Amino acid sequence: MEGLIPVMEPDRQYYFMNKCKELILDIKSDDKPLTYSVVTFGCQMNAHDSDKLKGILETIGYEEVEGEDADFVIFNTCTVRENANKKLYGHLGHLKSLKKKRPNMLIALCGCMMQEPHVVETIKTKYRMVDIVFGTHNIYKLAELIYNRLFQGERIIEVLDKSYITVEKLPQKRKYSFKSGVNIMYGCNNFCSYCIVPYVRGREKSRPAEDILAEIKDIASKGVKEVMLLGQNVNSYGQIYDYQDGKIVRVPEEEKVTFPELLTMVCQIEGIERVRFMTSHPKDLSDELIAVMAREPKICNHIHLPVQSGSTDILSKMNRRYTKEQYLSLVERIRAALPDVSITTDIIVGFPGETEEDFLETMDVVRKVGYDQAYTFIYSKRTGTPAASMDNQIPEDVIKDRFNRLLREVNDISYKRVGRYEGVTKDVLVEEINHQDKDLVTGRTEENITVHFKGGEELIGEIVPVKLISCKGFYYLGEREN
Ligand code: 5AD
Ligand code: SF4
Repeated sequence: MEGLIPVMEPDRQYYFMNKCKELILDIKSDDKPLTYSVVTFGCQMNAHDSDKLKGILETIGYEEVEGEDADFVIFNTCTVRENANKKLYGHLGHLKSLKKKRPNMLIALCGCMMQEPHVVETIKTKYRMVDIVFGTHNIYKLAELIYNRLFQGERIIEVLDKSYITVEKLPQKRKYSFKSGVNIMYGCNNFCSYCIVPYVRGREKSRPAEDILAEIKDIASKGVKEVMLLGQNVNSYGQIYDYQDGKIVRVPEEEKVTFPELLTMVCQIEGIERVRFMTSHPKDLSDELIAVMAREPKICNHIHLPVQSGSTDILSKMNRRYTKEQYLSLVERIRAALPDVSITTDIIVGFPGETEEDFLETMDVVRKVGYDQAYTFIYSKRTGTPAASMDNQIPEDVIKDRFNRLLREVNDISYKRVGRYEGVTKDVLVEEINHQDKDLVTGRTEENITVHFKGGEELIGEIVPVKLISCKGFYYLGEREN
């Protein structure tokens, strides 16, 4: 029998999806389909990975349900800040009691947190009811892992230290039929000193442009209008395709495709009407990219540009490789070419050694740039990162005070910035019926501003002009224009 199992991917996984289809019949106690729930923590990259997990589970024959009371529950975890870890253990306590009622229930854990050996150790010893554990480098293997779990009757733990192969062309379930994330690269080589991502997601690797374009053409033909190109640092797209014996394999200069070139090609794809991307590292954002954004109407009028801190000294300790002045001059160049662009950011408060003066530099950048939105984070010590062993960790009360001051400032500024569109008509991609008021639909402008307005189901997936009537902080009430 062994000889019949395909060696090549993704054929091997399709083989195991079929096998699982047969095996899960044994778990069923009635005629109803088995149910699954994928609980996602963290960033867009994880959300996109979850769509792939859902695609595999639906191919096997599971049906999605809300909540955690399902036949198969999988947690796609995040470890970028410590509170994400704590949340997972809370959920697992709850699942322990659910599994007592449902002995055939399967519980799987995957994602960034599983790449940390001490987490896997805790799961092994304290959470014995977990059936499958895997990491960020083998999510494509879900069907094979389920098969092994069911066939062998033992729990399966498979966490790899790096991506040995990249497997594409697996099923994917999209929450919305008209918009989708697309990975353009995996991993990160920047090693910002506070960040655990390079350790849990591995080294930076770009997907070949032809594969990305083929995927986007395919989803566009199925009705996708908006794509979000995903990578930890999209501006360094196309530099590294692979590693051999630990050494970087760079493509020959003449075959290189840069990020601005990739964007231009994506914009040419028929059916694609909006193109977004994230995340941009300020150190790699080129003038060429700014020029492409100004030239291509399909590229959304929005850029997420994490500053992290406004103090040059802290930025250096963070290993960000730009100064306060370089960041501000980059913003100036962006605004000169795209006067009305929406700029959003990430900021960390309380990095080791941050003084009041350093913090005031951050406040200064916040005021000078005028962010449309800023995601603010309290510094979280991640074991294994250089910052975790730095002297001068900041006391909690000092951090809280700075955090609150920063939050007030960013909220005030963002309220004013978002409010500038009052009375303006904007194209809105309608996403869904409003959860609170069924007579309204909810969608987003290219600046990523949420708009609610009167309309019905037939508008879902359409891009329609809407007059933004009243600003309610981070969202608008609007009226459809004809
Ligand atoms: N502590 C706090 N925030 C962090 N981020 C990444 N690592 C940490 C950490 N250790 C934030 C950064 C990043 C965002 C995704 O999460 O601001 O841009
Ligand atoms: Fe983390 Fe920095 Fe890489 Fe972003 S660029 S994932 S903050 S190391």
